[in-house]
Amino acid sequence: MSVVLHTDHMVHLPKVASFVPVPARLIKKDQESDGLYTLHLEICSQQPEHIQQFARFQFGQFNMLSIMGIGEIPISIMGWQDGLLMHTIRSVGRVSEALNNLQPGSQIGLRGPFGQGWPLTDFTGRDLIFITAGLGCAPVVAAINYAVAHKQQYRRIVILQGVKHHQDLLWQSKYDEWRDKGDCQVLLAASEENKRKYHWRLGLVTELLELAEFDPSHCSVMMCGPEIMMLAALKQLNKQQVDESEVYLSLERNFQCGLGSCGHCQLGPYFVCKDGPVFHYPQIKPWFGHTGF
Ligand SMILES: Cc1cc2nc3c(=O)[nH]c(=O)nc-3n(C[C@H](O)[C@H](O)[C@H](O)COP(=O)(O)OP(=O)(O)OC[C@H]3O[C@@H](n4cnc5c(N)ncnc54)[C@H](O)[C@@H]3O)c2cc1C
Ligand code: FES
Repeated sequence: MSVVLHTDHMVHLPKVASFVPVPARLIKKDQESDGLYTLHLEICSQQPEHIQQFARFQFGQFNMLSIMGIGEIPISIMGWQDGLLMHTIRSVGRVSEALNNLQPGSQIGLRGPFGQGWPLTDFTGRDLIFITAGLGCAPVVAAINYAVAHKQQYRRIVILQGVKHHQDLLWQSKYDEWRDKGDCQVLLAASEENKRKYHWRLGLVTELLELAEFDPSHCSVMMCGPEIMMLAALKQLNKQQVDESEVYLSLERNFQCGLGSCGHCQLGPYFVCKDGPVFHYPQIKPWFGHTGF
């Protein structure tokens, strides 16, 4: 019996090359705080197009970082500076700890960039509101940097970030720069602080929304952090007359392939790795916040 292969189905399969890691060398590691570090990586492939591939990422996309013999994990792209790719990582388990133990000069594998990022170009002429908590700031930092550098394209820029203690805030100097030089409204909240510091509020990031100055009918909201925080923020935005069609959020799931092939990250009809991690809220509303999805 002869088997007919339908090539129009095959074109939707990911390229094999996307499963093959590109070598990268650790040039520098910044220890941001206990267990939290930023890797500065040089792409050291023989193929020059690989450098362009990693340099031209969309804000909000991720790469898969691997150590041979240990494993591979998805990590958001924090930035690209002086020819080096930056990833900020919290040591939580096997692979993230092994990455933390690497010395400069070590080689790792990289696949990416993958997924859908923040559609910043659709937000021209609008107020931008970034709502993040904990390490949720990592997937938006490149987008904030871009928005601040192209401020003339937007109206107000409001940045809200929540942490447990003020010492947990990553990149304090960036927030100061965005506030002072970027002319943005930057509001910070610490939920477990016992004394109030200058520029800080006591409480949750969602409580900052009441203090945010923006036009609810001309704004685009970008959120990243624990889903419980994003659900609370959605409720508060609704109270403040922001339509849910203005909301975009970045989701986290356990990824294996990162390419929509293995099914590990399914959310209803979507693959978070391929159709996300950034989603337009109305697209995923029926599944968002429900356990088991
Ligand atoms: C799109 C995307 C972007 C991400 N960006 C970043 C980033 O910029 N920086 C960063 O530090 N982390 C990021 N993560 C989370 C990171 O991928 C996980 O922390 C990592 O996979 C843990 O792997 P491990 O082998 O070190 O730990 P493991 O030994 O696999 O797990 C340690 C603990 O973390 C839990 N865990 C594992 N994977 C996930 C996951 N995907 N989501 C939630 N809990 C998980 C496990 O249940 C376990 O409790 C991102 C995840 C996704 C999906
Ligand atoms: S991680 Fe394999 S389908 Fe998403």
